[in-house]
Amino acid sequence: MTEQNFIPKPYGKHIESGVVAWESPSNIALIKYWGKKKDQIPENPSISFTLNSCKTITKVSFFKKNDVVNFEFDVFLDGKKKVDFKPKIQTFFERVEDYLPFLRNYKFKIETENTFPHSSGIASSASGMSALALCLMSIERDLLTPLEVTDEYFNQKASFLARLGSGSACRSIEGDIIVWGETKQIEGSSDLFGIKYPYKVHDNFKDYQDTILLVDKGEKQVSSTVGHNLMHNHPYAKNRFQQAHENFEKLKPILESGDLKAFIALVESEALTLHAMMMTSMPYFILMKPKTLEIINKIWKFRQDTGSNISFTLDAGANVHVLYPKNESFEVLEFIKNELVVYCQNGHYICDQIGMGAKKIN
Ligand code: DP6
Repeated sequence: MTEQNFIPKPYGKHIESGVVAWESPSNIALIKYWGKKKDQIPENPSISFTLNSCKTITKVSFFKKNDVVNFEFDVFLDGKKKVDFKPKIQTFFERVEDYLPFLRNYKFKIETENTFPHSSGIASSASGMSALALCLMSIERDLLTPLEVTDEYFNQKASFLARLGSGSACRSIEGDIIVWGETKQIEGSSDLFGIKYPYKVHDNFKDYQDTILLVDKGEKQVSSTVGHNLMHNHPYAKNRFQQAHENFEKLKPILESGDLKAFIALVESEALTLHAMMMTSMPYFILMKPKTLEIINKIWKFRQDTGSNISFTLDAGANVHVLYPKNESFEVLEFIKNELVVYCQNGHYICDQIGMGAKKIN
């Protein structure tokens, strides 16, 4: 597969206007994407659990226009016009226009909302960009004949387009475990789009829970894009990228056998390695907060005292994703309520779990 595969044939159908809508989830990486080349080509492979409840719902209305000079679109979040969202979408349209040649022929109204609070510090770029990519794919599907767009091609191209919006967004199209980035450990893996994890997964990981503790809902001091770029000339970058491949080799037997202790060690190490890369960048930065560390220490103590299979992971922020098997939900949620909620801003946390990917809304 190359980029060329995603350039469509001339559109056979003529459509004046229409409406499409999708809901698309967020995802949480187990092996982290941190470091990229141009156009979100990742420096290393990553793998994530697709989430279920944290999602973006996007409706795109489109109207044929006469000129093809500019992209024309308006963006609304929760019904309010968001002019500050426009530059990101303008850049996205520029990046994908070769693959979606209809973009200049229509005026778009993009209406979007998230199921999680906007000020939660949860990145909405994965769910938001994947939802938009899926809407655009639905429009393209309508412009082509059904036989020209198989479901496999549809998902692959949606993931390819989402990646051009935000790297991790390419892992939000399908569920429940998605790999992105070429590695010899995973047959069919690609830098261009995410694929479903193709090997056996033990029942221990079915319905895996992710409770997101909202430690800091503020704007991040350093964006992911800036952080990724600091991996260029980073003193540990080469080893880190190598380690991600090696962690795939370790993760395969863990997912197959259901070895939760080994899973915990790998996932927590990945989270702390991600933040170690931030701390050893130049300029260096720290996204964890004191409360993030308090939570991590409490989780470790609880695990030691009770033998629980609770673990944590982090994305590029201070919030903590608490991961655990479904059959331990009762004990872990009691522990969260009794001991961890005090570290959450306004006591807020979100209960989510592994999900099956985006859904079209009719
Ligand atoms: C730490 O996908 O947000 O969450 O490609 O620049 O949009 P861009 O970055 P983004 O980076 C996410 C990084 C991460 C790890 C991960 O999700 O794999």
